[in-house]
Amino acid sequence: MRVVIPGGNGKTGRAVVGALRARDVTAVPLGRGDVPGVADAAYLIAPNMHPDEPALVAGLLDALRAAGVSRVVYHSVASPYAPDMPHHLGKARAEDLVRRSGLSWTILQPGPYLQNLDLTAPVRVPYDVHAVFGFADLREVAEAAATVLTEPGHEGATYELASRTATVAGLAAEAGATAERVPGPSGLGPWFDAMFAYYDRHGLPVGTRTLAALLGRGAAAGPSDTRPTPP
Ligand SMILES: NC(=O)c1ccc[n+]([C@@H]2O[C@H](COP(=O)([O-])OP(=O)(O)OC[C@H]3O[C@@H](n4cnc5c(N)ncnc54)[C@H](OP(=O)(O)O)[C@@H]3O)[C@@H](O)[C@H]2O)c1
Repeated sequence: MRVVIPGGNGKTGRAVVGALRARDVTAVPLGRGDVPGVADAAYLIAPNMHPDEPALVAGLLDALRAAGVSRVVYHSVASPYAPDMPHHLGKARAEDLVRRSGLSWTILQPGPYLQNLDLTAPVRVPYDVHAVFGFADLREVAEAAATVLTEPGHEGATYELASRTATVAGLAAEAGATAERVPGPSGLGPWFDAMFAYYDRHGLPVGTRTLAALLGRGAAAGPSDTRPTPP
């Protein structure tokens, strides 16, 4: 089996390529300007915070159709229709394009990666450290990607993916680190600040059952937090 992976040279792509190659799949990461070529399937990854993800995805879907690739798995995000976060909304629109592409599709919606946090040092984030998230272990997301690409029965499915429910404070405490909210703006740009403002108010809860089922393991760990019990 041959799978092409547009965006496959980034953090997510390297994990997906590794999981596919571990299953003896020929996994071909594609960078900017690379054409898909003949393949059984594509795993489509847009770069983080792309300014026009629907246009990028539309172009990639055209390229896949032109190459005769009939199966696509799109790497989206948990809660894509969150209009307060422009990059999530871009993924919601891109999901619609994927569903109407005429290709056989599957959509994965991972929560924030556990690997985003460096727990070896004091953790400083510009949002409430007690906000609840469904964090996704990138290695498990990559396993799920390989599963839906190589096994039947996932066509037309949209799966939200989280490995565990936790807070930044809880994860830091587990690792023996401290967690602190720092004031914004983050310096990373308005879309990041919009995301952090959303995280601050709502966190990003994501169910854990789907990923557990895809990986064939039991339910994930419950909440992890050090929030003091109110008097
Ligand atoms: N981080 C998380 O917690 C998380 C959670 C859920 C979903 N996601 C989503 O996962 C996706 C991948 O994130 P990532 O951090 O792994 O990706 P990334 O490293 O930012 O980008 C992936 C690849 O995209 C290519 N690229 C960069 N700019 C481009 C452009 N303007 N046009 C076309 N291609 C371009 C680059 O490859 P070349 O240089 O080889 O062209 C890059 O290696 C993002 O869409 C993100 O929203 C992330």
